[in-house]
Order: sequence, then structure tokens, then C-alpha cells
Amino acid sequence: MENMMLEIKNIKRVGSDTLESLFIEDGKIRGWNLSESASETIDGKGATVAPALIELHAHLREPGQEQKEDLASGLAAAAAGGYGTVVSMPNTSPVVDDPGIVTSLIQKADRLGFARLKPAAALTRGQKGETLADLAALKDAGAAMFTDDGRTNENANVLRRGMEYASGLGLLVSVHAEDATLRQDGVMNEGVVSQELGLPGNPAAAEAARVARDVEIALLTGARLHIQHLSTARALEIVRQGKKAGAPVTCEVCPHHLTLTDEALRGFDAMYKVAPPLRTQQDAEALFEGLLDGTVDCLATDHAPHTQAEKEKDMLEAPFGIPSIEVAFPLMYTRFVKTGKISLEKLLDLFTAGCARVMNWEVPSLEEGAVADVVLLDLENSKAVDPKSFKSKARFSPWAGDELYGWPVLTLVNGRVAFQG
Ligand code: DOR
Ligand code: ZN
Repeated sequence: MENMMLEIKNIKRVGSDTLESLFIEDGKIRGWNLSESASETIDGKGATVAPALIELHAHLREPGQEQKEDLASGLAAAAAGGYGTVVSMPNTSPVVDDPGIVTSLIQKADRLGFARLKPAAALTRGQKGETLADLAALKDAGAAMFTDDGRTNENANVLRRGMEYASGLGLLVSVHAEDATLRQDGVMNEGVVSQELGLPGNPAAAEAARVARDVEIALLTGARLHIQHLSTARALEIVRQGKKAGAPVTCEVCPHHLTLTDEALRGFDAMYKVAPPLRTQQDAEALFEGLLDGTVDCLATDHAPHTQAEKEKDMLEAPFGIPSIEVAFPLMYTRFVKTGKISLEKLLDLFTAGCARVMNWEVPSLEEGAVADVVLLDLENSKAVDPKSFKSKARFSPWAGDELYGWPVLTLVNGRVAFQG
């Protein structure tokens, strides 16, 4: 059989201005600047190369909510966002609490050839929080983690038993940490702005109290717990203390909680309605400090597509969620690397190796023998966010019109082109 070697030429490694060539064969990195001839060559035109991004939190809506998103649109959007791997959330219809659904999602995603799918399965049957799902069977089918995300885990003992069971299987449980009885029917952060607008507030304490409880369960059981979309300074401080005390907890932060605040709700636009809600500037700054000091393990988008019609409803009626998988990297790069607040190396770590460490996956690399999940990033040219061009079905964005740098121009998954811009 003919030797299928791909060469990507004229690319820069992070921190270097030298143009180099990366060689890929059989889905693996073959090496750098080889003298061998390739059967196919892609000109990187000076783009910066990195391991493809990893997404630990995306709502892809299949099965059952394909009007919002489906595997094809969601995984194409992910590849366009520079992601090689996506963990999908199980709050679909039906819920992903059955091994057959996990299997069919993985098979379908494989056929599509965009980003690689690693489905999360529900921790409890129907995500009702009452009885545990068949975690062993779900793992055997390919479930990457267990979560009732979209809902909160109100019963602490069910969560405890689920974490112990998952831990025995070598998988983690991730939680949407909000106390539902404190959150009530809050549609935005409880504070000055919610009072002025007369909208029901969701207090920071709902998140902090729940994170405190869950950190204690991690300490009690020694079982791994991942806290999703942390949004408040107080909850972050509790995670920091928990880590110091030896709790096996990790956490993620989302781009929208770092770049937007509850001030965005002043126009009563439900595009900004998300759970947990956009908080205050002090919270956003504290979360950013957490990125720098290592309290935050990784970035995740919580890409939550809904139809335009749903998001055009009023603040009380519209569903929660902000789609962002196609803009997350350029947004973070432009706001925080371009402005000198964080290094490109650190930002990439939060989008790649940090995620892999949370999952206990092999840390991605561009060295010989590594899986060829690769992204090329254009750090030189800016482009305005244009939701009409999104591959996601959710063609709206809080960042529409923003001029951003760092757009992915090529994403390879297993050495295959999953996106080319
Ligand atoms: O804003 C959110 N949207 N938060 C969640 O927890 C669920 C998600 C969704 O499924 O739309
Ligand atoms: Zn959530």
C-alpha cells in the first residue's frame, strides 16, 4: 500500500518564529522537518500549531433536540473552534442513561469525521437524582464521565454513592453545583442589577454552598469530582481551600463567565441568560486569578445551543444557555493573551493538557508517536465574529461583531482534516 504521509509546512511552534514542517502518518505525529517526501502537503502560511483543543462540556442536543443542535452541526462547530475532542452532556431527550444511546452516539460521530465524541452519561436514571444509572454498563459502552448537568444533584447521598461507584470504575463525576432551594427561580445573578431590573435573582451563595457540600463529599469518599462552570469568587475560594485540604476535586471555568457580567442583562436580552448566571466584575476577576494560580484546572465552554425563537422569549421564559464553541479560543486569546494578562502557553494548557489531566487522559503533544490531533491558529489576522457563518445551529452570539484574533484555520483529528477554514 502506498505510504500516506501528510506534511503541514510553514507553521510555527508556540514561542518560535521559525517556519517548520510537521509530518503525520497513520493518524500519528511522525516527526518534524523530515527529509522524506509527503503524499499530501498543506501550506500553514505562518499559522501557529498546537495540539487540538479539548472540550469537556458541550450540549450537542442529540438525541431528541435536533432543532437546537445535532451531532453533525455540533461536532463540525467544535472542529471549526479548534477542538479535536468533545465531551457531550447527557441532558438530551431521552437522557443518555442507557448504554445503547452511548454506543449509537459514538458510532454516528465516528462516521461524521468532525471532532471526536466522548459522550458523558447521566449519573442517575433520567437525571432525576434518585437512583443511579447502570454506570458499569455505560462505561463499557464508552461513557467518558457521569453527570446530571442541566440539573443539580439535590440528594447528597445519591451523589456520594454515585461518586464511589464511578471511582471504582476509574471515571469521574462532574456536577452542576447549585443549591436548587437557594437558586429558586432566579434567572440572573442576585445583586444590584437584578434588583434594579426587578428580575428574580440567583445568589452566589447557591453555588458556594453546593460547592462546599460537594468538596466535603470528595474528601469523605476520596472519589474524583469535577465541578462544572464555576462562576463565583466564593465558590472558587472553597475549591482552593478544598484542594489544599487534599480533596480530589477539579474545576472548569467558561469563557462567558470571564468576559461578561450581569450588566449585560440590562437590555433584558435572554441571549445572556445562562446557568449559572453571569456574575459581577469581581467574580470574573477572581475566576481569572484562579486560572493563573492553578485553582482552575481547565476551560470549558458549556456550549448550550437553543433556537433563536427560544432565546428571543423574555427573560422569564427563555431557556438558559450561551453557545460559544466556535469562538471560545479566539475570544480568550484576544481578551487575555493579546492584552498580556496570560501567556499563550498557559491559555493553551487550559484548553488542552489541563482538560486531559482532569479526565486522566494522555496529555496531548506534538511529539513523534502522539495522536495527530492538531490545530493551526492564525494569531496574526483578526476577523469579526459572524454568527451567520457558524456551523452550529445556534447562529447568535454575545460576541457578534467583535474583532478577534486566533481563529483556527485547520483542525486535524487522528491526522484527518476535520475542519479547514
Ligand atoms: O445555561 C445552561 N444551559 N446551563 C445548564 O446547566 C444547562 C444548559 C443547557 O442544557 O442548555
Ligand atoms: Zn450546567
